[in-house]
Amino acid sequence: MSFDASEYGRYVAEVYDETYAHLAPDAAVERLAALADGGPVCEFGVGTGRLALPLVARGLTVAGIEGSPEMVAGLRAKPGGDAVEMAVGDFAQTRMPGEFALVVLAFNTIFALPDQAAQVACFRNAAAHLRPGGRFVVEAWVPDPGAFRAGGALRPVRVAEDAVLLEVALLHPAEQRMTTTKVRFSNAGVRLLPANHRYAWPAELDLMAELAGMRREHRWEDWTGRPFTDDSRDHVSVYRRPERP
Ligand SMILES: C[S@@+](CC[C@H](N)C(=O)[O-])C[C@H]1O[C@@H](n2cnc3c(N)ncnc32)[C@H](O)[C@@H]1O
Repeated sequence: MSFDASEYGRYVAEVYDETYAHLAPDAAVERLAALADGGPVCEFGVGTGRLALPLVARGLTVAGIEGSPEMVAGLRAKPGGDAVEMAVGDFAQTRMPGEFALVVLAFNTIFALPDQAAQVACFRNAAAHLRPGGRFVVEAWVPDPGAFRAGGALRPVRVAEDAVLLEVALLHPAEQRMTTTKVRFSNAGVRLLPANHRYAWPAELDLMAELAGMRREHRWEDWTGRPFTDDSRDHVSVYRRPERP
């Protein structure tokens, strides 16, 4: 399957920050700083720096791999944006020079890869960036096929006085894929924000980590460390490269 790592940003970069301005990054940044323990961080799919820039502000060295030149331009335009060393490319393949204490793949972005093979390659690439004992953190939703009727779902993501964000989704269970377009209504007009996902349950991600030579250290429901339970709809999973091979 042909895959273009720059596609998401082409549609979304211009409105990314205002669309997700309601998501406070504080708990994620706090958790990531603790997991990095002062060491260098590499974020895959760093976007416009929602997490990377607060980490830089905390004194951490942060690098990023990003597929979209438009998202990179958004990051560079912000205060501190120049401090993030950037590589433009697909994070399943691209190698950022250096050894990192922490590799981050947040906000469901593992599912942006088109198939299982690309996701396994991404886990291997994350492991290749880690120093011994380093950690790979993945934040993702838990697939919920029960939310779909006749293969489709319509979900309000955010309803506010100034904007409404809806997600329209089609499920393709045979390939574990979900086609979505978020629709943002505001006084400025209507914007369509398409994103396709190859989804995976947490256990499949654990197996990808094992294939890449890493072991799961933690799984929480969110960045604050709430326990992951039967009812959890999201997870933050931490994988660790062994100290010794
Ligand atoms: C949902 S955004 C998350 C951005 C940022 N991590 C955050 O938490 O706000 C996903 C980002 O990953 C980038 N991306 C998606 N697939 C990619 C790939 N295969 N390689 C590199 N970047 C990719 C997109 O361009 C986008 O900037």
